[in-house]
Amino acid sequence: MQEIRKVAVIGAGVMGAGIAAQVANAGVPVLLLDIVPQGSNDRNAIAAGAVARMAKTEPAPLMSAAAAKLITPGNTEDDLGKLVDCDWIVEAVVERLDVKRALYRRIDAVRRPGSAVSSNTSTIPLATLVEGMPEAFRRDFLITHFFNPPRYMRLLEIVAGADSDAATVAAVSRFGDIVLGKSLVNCKDSPGFIANRLGVYWMQLGVVEALDAGLSVEEADAVMGRPFGVPRTAIFGLIDLVGLDLMPHVNASLARALPPSDPFHAANREMPLLGRMIAEGYTGRKGKGGFYRLERGEGGRRKLAMDLATGEYRPERAANLPELAAAGSDLRKILAAPGKVGRYAWRVIGQTLSYAAALVPEATDDIVGIDEAMRLGYNWKWGPFELIDRIGADWLIERLAAEGIAIPRLLAQAKGRSFYRIERGQLQFLGTDGAYHDVIRPDGVLLLDDVKRRSRPLLKNASAAVWDIGDGVVCFEFTSKMNALDADIIALLNKTLALVREDYKALVIYNEGTNFSVGANLGIALFAANIAAWGEVEKAIAAGQQTYLALKYAPFPVVSAPAGMALGGGCEILLHSTAVQAHAETYAGLVECGVGLLPGWGGCKEMLVRWQTEGKLPRGPMPGAARAFELISTAQVSKSAAEAREMLILRASDGVTMNRARLLADAKARALALLDSGARPLPPEIIAAGPAGKAALMMAAEGFRRMGKATEHDLVVAAALAEVLSGGDADPTVPIGEQAMLDLERRNFVRLLQCEKTLARIEHTLETGKPLRN
Ligand code: NAI
Repeated sequence: MQEIRKVAVIGAGVMGAGIAAQVANAGVPVLLLDIVPQGSNDRNAIAAGAVARMAKTEPAPLMSAAAAKLITPGNTEDDLGKLVDCDWIVEAVVERLDVKRALYRRIDAVRRPGSAVSSNTSTIPLATLVEGMPEAFRRDFLITHFFNPPRYMRLLEIVAGADSDAATVAAVSRFGDIVLGKSLVNCKDSPGFIANRLGVYWMQLGVVEALDAGLSVEEADAVMGRPFGVPRTAIFGLIDLVGLDLMPHVNASLARALPPSDPFHAANREMPLLGRMIAEGYTGRKGKGGFYRLERGEGGRRKLAMDLATGEYRPERAANLPELAAAGSDLRKILAAPGKVGRYAWRVIGQTLSYAAALVPEATDDIVGIDEAMRLGYNWKWGPFELIDRIGADWLIERLAAEGIAIPRLLAQAKGRSFYRIERGQLQFLGTDGAYHDVIRPDGVLLLDDVKRRSRPLLKNASAAVWDIGDGVVCFEFTSKMNALDADIIALLNKTLALVREDYKALVIYNEGTNFSVGANLGIALFAANIAAWGEVEKAIAAGQQTYLALKYAPFPVVSAPAGMALGGGCEILLHSTAVQAHAETYAGLVECGVGLLPGWGGCKEMLVRWQTEGKLPRGPMPGAARAFELISTAQVSKSAAEAREMLILRASDGVTMNRARLLADAKARALALLDSGARPLPPEIIAAGPAGKAALMMAAEGFRRMGKATEHDLVVAAALAEVLSGGDADPTVPIGEQAMLDLERRNFVRLLQCEKTLARIEHTLETGKPLRN
């Protein structure tokens, strides 16, 4: 099968629209078809409506406004012929076998032979879907099961049928992995595949066991959430999120498909309360509310929770479970806790973990896929086998045996050992053959976690570490809390620059935290301000400035590879790198003004230079200064790498990686490729707009103040920023040097830090994580 260059998605509902958006996010044109609605003038109304809604949906399915243009809406009556141009056709219509089968016949009549066709079904077995279809169709067919929302959920389950052509499956898998950025898990054609088979069982247990043990929804979620590395939504919050009305359908379909011996049936009890809630429109967050609900009344908003015993709403109350608190993060202690906490935790987790062990090899060949599926499909911190290792396989086996629960073969095999082990620095898993096997990463996947398992850091201090990632490339990793930047990081960066200059070829700045960096450690700034250590602050800023300059002019390539947030000083790292290789989900911005400060490590200067030279703006110093002023004063953060590019935080030449697991390898490859180019940046020619420019920038800010959109202190901050971006009292006819700009940044930073209201903002942000408008 040929390379996938054009995609069609049929069914423009929740999933189809989301999948089409992600294809477009990857820069690939996509046709989105749905039925012609009865009685509508616009025959494309459903698909076109889905595209229109994308701009308003939260979280946003599209990474940029430009991506929307790659989606062509249409309908299955007039446009089916266009499938002939598509290399991959994704079916995402309603979960009904008759509808899907009828559609396959129509697709097969028009598609190009050899084009791939896949279904996004969550419950119908592949063998059933293609029954009676021609052999050529069956060869080109597979299941690609995305999770909602497709842009953000990293899991993609792949099911190949007995007749599926290996090359077709490989081509679609490759596209799903590299182009759409998903992590693939190969599943067998068994009911519910992996994540839902296990996840739905766990959710069902979570509900019925809470009823049996007499826990409130808050208590159940407190037990099942954080302690087990599960998102806070845990059970009841998650059901609210996915929709209560989905549960009976999914449960019924799993119940139909699973053999009578499957433990799922025992958990799948009738739940009259759920039925009543659905009938009354309490279908969860998309409806009138679910197990949790916000009530808007005269006194403002009130949070309510469903009382499982009475079926009535009552005010939400935080769980107060001393047994849980006493157990801390010790999972065994939680599972053995007295009273309802222990009973609930054990009944849900014990059965879920033993069920997971029974899924190998029925649903997939090894435990690695199951753990990955639960981590990425349900956002669990640890997969079920990682959880068993934390609890202890022996402990689990003994407890299950004591209660007369059958021990799955695979679990019995783990007796006396663990499911994972590290052997000579290599992560290994326990196979069904009872032997350990290496966890093999796909080609093009390099994980710092793996490097860290097999080597020792070249350099290290309390906030950062430096690793040899091979081929002469060094990786600098932030390790501080939330990867906040501090003096230790600056010091280690300097040492690293010296190390690479001596012994290595290139530097990559990367880490595997949720966020690349949230910016400079504000706690330290606040502390310094409280003791009025202004000289120290100046020195710290100056040291940072010189380090960032050294990064910029390093005699070797420096490639930054952000994912998640890259804010403030973290964003300034990107601005000073030779190149950036960003994960598509990069949220970057200079946010200092939000806390009453301004970028002081060269961020103002670099943004100004970029907007003056690369911004395709009219010539002259002012347009670039105005744009930089706007972005920095409003603390704008990109909602994707694509948006970071529009903001010039990324340059046209910077790269974007869709798959998070491929980011480090891509960054390393980029660094090595840059070695050959040998180009070093030239010091920029900065033309400052001078005092007149500052006055012009302030006019805009004062306009916001008049409209009530800016506070008094916002104006103080804006004035400091305007002073920097206009070059102070520089003469607009003479270019000013980088150091002069840095001096302006530093002086104004310290001045702002001396403001009471800036300190109040910092304090508030440190306490609440939110900005203060004062
Ligand atoms: P949905 O109800 O939101 O959308 C289904 C769409 O298919 C509707 O727009 C409908 O007009 C259209 N449609 C129905 N018959 C059609 C036909 N013959 N030709 C073209 N379009 C047709 O459904 P949703 O949730 O998007 O589910 C779609 C598929 O994805 C189902 O197979 C479902 O099991 C699966 N799925 C759903 C997930 C979810 O969280 N909602 C997650 C993963 C898979």
